[in-house]
Order: sequence, then structure tokens, then C-alpha cells
Amino acid sequence: MQNLMRRWLGGALFLNVLFVSVSPVSAAESSLEAWIRSQSDRSLDRVYKAISPADGALGSVMASPSRSEPNYYYHWIRDAALVMREVWAFRKAEPKLSRQILMDFALFSRKNQTTSNWSGEGDGRGVGEPKFHMDGKPFNEGWGRPQNDGPALRALTLIGLADDMMMSGKEAWVYKHLYSPELPARTVIKKDLEYVAHTWHEASFDLWEEVKGDHFYTRMTQWRALEDGAIFAKKMGDPEAAKFYRAQAIQIMESLDKFWSSGKGYLLTTRNRVEGADDKHSNLDIAIVLGVLHAGKTGFPFFVDDDRVIATVHELELIFDYAYAINRNRKNEQNLPMAPAIGRYPEDRYDGNRTDQKGNPWFLTTHAMAEYLMLLKGELQSRGQVKITEISRPFYEDLVRKDFTGKRKLVEGDPSYEAIISALQARADAFIRRSKFHTGEAGRQSEQYNRVHGHMQGAANLTWSYASFLSLRRIRDRYYD
Ligand code: NOJ
Ligand code: NOJ
Repeated sequence: MQNLMRRWLGGALFLNVLFVSVSPVSAAESSLEAWIRSQSDRSLDRVYKAISPADGALGSVMASPSRSEPNYYYHWIRDAALVMREVWAFRKAEPKLSRQILMDFALFSRKNQTTSNWSGEGDGRGVGEPKFHMDGKPFNEGWGRPQNDGPALRALTLIGLADDMMMSGKEAWVYKHLYSPELPARTVIKKDLEYVAHTWHEASFDLWEEVKGDHFYTRMTQWRALEDGAIFAKKMGDPEAAKFYRAQAIQIMESLDKFWSSGKGYLLTTRNRVEGADDKHSNLDIAIVLGVLHAGKTGFPFFVDDDRVIATVHELELIFDYAYAINRNRKNEQNLPMAPAIGRYPEDRYDGNRTDQKGNPWFLTTHAMAEYLMLLKGELQSRGQVKITEISRPFYEDLVRKDFTGKRKLVEGDPSYEAIISALQARADAFIRRSKFHTGEAGRQSEQYNRVHGHMQGAANLTWSYASFLSLRRIRDRYYD
């Protein structure tokens, strides 16, 4: 096996060298910077193509164009919210079009909320339904439902649109479609916030749609939706709701502390499991990092510099490094360092189509590691210091290969501080090289890339893969130096 692996890797290296030298894009591909630029252009293109396709409703987002093995041709609430978040973040290129796209998405989302489905009545429990057909019809088949991160993520994305429209003279549309204080709610953001505020303490299925219980990821998104929702509600003349949302946000934040396991030394992904997969023995999951990226906020617990998050990131890197054979190859075509390929969680058995296989690394989870490291870099630099605790120490020691025993704090100017800052950026780029190495022709990214041979598999052109790259690009641009 070892030999086979080495032979395969040798072949892959050879092929890659050939590809680079004959491909017309070779000049651009030879530089990571240039690749990142072209890959984000291609990602944005793919994202636009996934929105309101010819046979889908206006405002719908396909998770992937793949219609069989696996069929991902659905509007998933979570994927769509994260995709729309990037359309909005990249609106500068196409301000009018982006706003129109988000308005269409808001109207389609309101239709989803009012469509009765297997999670429950429209405008009731049905708000927790994870996905709809692209034409807006309910998905009436067995599935892990409800998934309560969806409404929270959707509210967060749409608050961005509403804030912007309020400032540019479009208040009437906002009050009519996005947020009005009246109850029962008849606008999309209000409905989502009400749903989140009243259901956050209930068990739901996790973002991977496999386990019913209390999840760190879901709770983070619910916390942030209500935290930002409270500020927003107040601005919209709904002070009582603002108070209620804030009070719930505080309780959610308190409940998040329980996910820390001092015994294991990392944040657990699920507590109080009630049904679904029961073989996630480590309870260690990249969902923690995704929760921090999608919902963390500077100055609050569980942001990138929280030592519990740092320790979890460290454990994730170690476990995935060990889990996947492709991680034995750590140099790309140009002999530059690649960080380990990252997946969802070590016990994963979903190969992109079947669930009796071995799980693989994913693009969006690999991107998440790079984005996390750049965000951590930015946060540490803004404070001008690195705090070292017993919990975060192993991460920093491994990062720069130094011994920090007895150290509590490293400040700007200290060689160890500077070493950490530049190592975070270098490490982020090493994760980007990993993603680049497994990316297909013309920038194609499926859901996964195989743990042994590195080729892509699972849903082709997964829209979320592209959205996660765009998010990474934004954060990298902000903090790169
Ligand atoms: C499809 C889900 O989308 C995926 O996350 C999950 O692993 C499999 N079904 C198995 O439940
Ligand atoms: C499976 C993933 O587990 C889930 O998070 C995602 O929403 C769907 N695929 C659609 O991309």
C-alpha cells in the first residue's frame, strides 16, 4: 500500500509538471496569488450560475448541478444563505444585480417559510425544513429534519441586505418584505428571528444532516442571529423584540460553554444526542471552525482567538493529518509546502454518494482552515499580542516549533510574536495550496477529494465549495501582508 501510494504520488507529480508546462494558463497557475485571483473569479461565476437557474424559481440556489448520485439539485436553506452571503459581500462588482439577486432570494425564502412540509406547517415548525425543490415545492421524503441553523444563517444574510436598503431610501420594501414588527410575523427576517428565539433550545439535526441533538455549530448561528437581530430589531422600531432576542442570545452564549470538554481538550460538536448517527465517538468536528467563521464575532467568546477554539483547531489538524493517505505528500508541483487535507470529522463514512464508505477531505473544510488562520492572524495583530494559556500552548508551539513553557504573553516586536504572525499566514497559504492541488480543470471543485488518490468526488461543482473560497479570499485580502 505504501509503495502503491508513493508510486501514485510520483505519477501525480509528474502529470502535474506536464500539465503546468503545456497548459495555456501555466503562467497564471504558477503563482499562488494569480491562482487565488482567477479561482475567485471562477467561483463567483459558478455562484451566479447556481442562482435562479432556468428550471428553478427566481431566488433559488442549487447546491450543485448534480441531479443523480448524488442528487443535490435542491435549494438547501443553509447552503443558499452562505452563498448569498458571498454574493452580497462581493456586491461591489455588480451592485444593482447583487441587490436584485438578494431581493429575489428574500421573496423565495418567504415562500419557503410559508410552505407546509414534513417539518411542519408553513410559518410554524415548517420554518426548520432543510431543503426545498428548486421550484419551491416541499421535499416530501425522509430526511434529517428540522435543521435549525438554516433560519439563523438566512436571517444573518438578509439583515445585511435590509440594513443597506434602509440607508438607501428603500424603507418601504424593507418593511413590506424583510422586517416589520407585527406578530404573527409576515416578513422573512422577523419570522426567522422569532423561530430561532423560540426554538434554539430544542434538539435539531446538525449541519451534516446526520445527528439530532444540541450542536455547537447550530447554537453559534442562533446566537449570532439573535445578537445581531436584537440590534437590527431596535433600529426597526421593535424594542420589545430586541430585548427578547438579546435575552435569548445571552442564554445561548451561556449554553455554549458546556461544549468545552476539559478532559478531551477540545470543543465537542454535539451534546445530548437524541437520534441519528451514533458512531461519532471523538465528537471532534470541523463544524466548530465553521461555526466560528460563520457566526463568531470579535470581542465575544468563541471567536478565533478563544483558546478553546484554538485547541480544537489544533486537534482537528492532527487527526486529519493522520487520517488521510494523501497527507503523506506535503509538497506541491513547485515543491512548496501543502498543509493537510481536511474533512468533516474523523469517523465520517459519507463518500459524497454513499454512507458505507470512508469519508474524504472536502474543499469547503480545507478552505475553512485557511480562513480561520488568516482571521486569527488579523485578530492577534489588532491586539498586538498573543496570549498563551495551557490550552492554546500546544497549537502555538507546533506552529513555530518553539517551547513556550512558562510564557503567558508575547507582544509585538518579540521575535516569537512575529514568528507566530508570519507562520499563521504561511500556514494559511499552505492550506490554499492543498485546495489548489486537488482542484480540477477550469477551477472545478466538487464536494470532496479522495483521501487516497486525491481526485475529486461527490457532488460536482458544489456551490458551497465556491462560496467558501470566496469567503476565504475576502478574509485573506483583508489581513495579508
Ligand atoms: C446526505 C447528507 O447531505 C450528508 O451530509 C450525509 O452525510 C448523508 N446524507 C448521510 O446521512
Ligand atoms: C451535505 C452536507 O452535509 C450539508 O451540510 C449540505 O447542506 C448538503 N450536502 C448540500 O450541500
